[in-house]
Amino acid sequence: MASRPPGTGRGMTTRLKTAEGRSTASQRWLTRQLNDPYVKAAKERGFRSRAAFKLTEMDARLHLLKTGMRVVDLGAAPGGWTQVAVQAVGPRGQVVAIDILPMDPVAGATVLQGDFQEEEAEQRVIAAMGGRADLVLSDMAPNTTGHQATDHLRIMALAELALDFARRVLAPGGAFVAKVLQGGTEAEMLAVLKRDFATVKHVKPPASRKDSAEMYVVGMGFRGAGL
Ligand SMILES: C[S@@+](CC[C@H](N)C(=O)[O-])C[C@H]1O[C@@H](n2cnc3c(N)ncnc32)[C@H](O)[C@@H]1O
Repeated sequence: MASRPPGTGRGMTTRLKTAEGRSTASQRWLTRQLNDPYVKAAKERGFRSRAAFKLTEMDARLHLLKTGMRVVDLGAAPGGWTQVAVQAVGPRGQVVAIDILPMDPVAGATVLQGDFQEEEAEQRVIAAMGGRADLVLSDMAPNTTGHQATDHLRIMALAELALDFARRVLAPGGAFVAKVLQGGTEAEMLAVLKRDFATVKHVKPPASRKDSAEMYVVGMGFRGAGL
């Protein structure tokens, strides 16, 4: 699968014909959506979100997904990463996805709804997995408050939760990917990852908006024992 959507940076800019009744922020959001080549390409390829390309791009670079793998997708809705993972692991693989929000089923995946911060939700994910995971993905992100320090702390808390889970469920050699925000504690997380993974990277895939502080930490070659 090509990692970048066609037509990036080319084509006509769509402008909103009417701004009546729309706030400036929502107008800006809508104009950006209408002109975003990843949004267009996601629609063309049947992906539920432009986020799907972030995973395909990271996979093209780091070879995270392989046939037959057992993958856990945390913060999965609307399901772009789940779709990419299901395609990549094939019928011999397994994908367990969870989100606090309801998510439409994805053929070939087990989709759960629950707050991953609750112990019970984590237990349901473990029960749905048939054994140790080869890859734990977390694209979990809380709704942003606009207050940078608060947003940073909340997203890092989710990434740490995902890492703690990954440490307990990964098979030896397994991998971990989590969304973080640049600007503070992500350096500490990379240091922690280095203890448990043979290779550690931080990645800003091209599909991740340049004006966003979002990036991903990646650990490969898990040294621990998992479950
Ligand atoms: C950026 S979106 C994920 C997009 C997804 N990777 C895709 O490809 O479509 C982040 C998701 O994290 C979810 N989320 C935030 N906090 C969560 C929590 N405590 N437990 C489970 N999901 C959570 C949100 O509901 C949201 O759907």
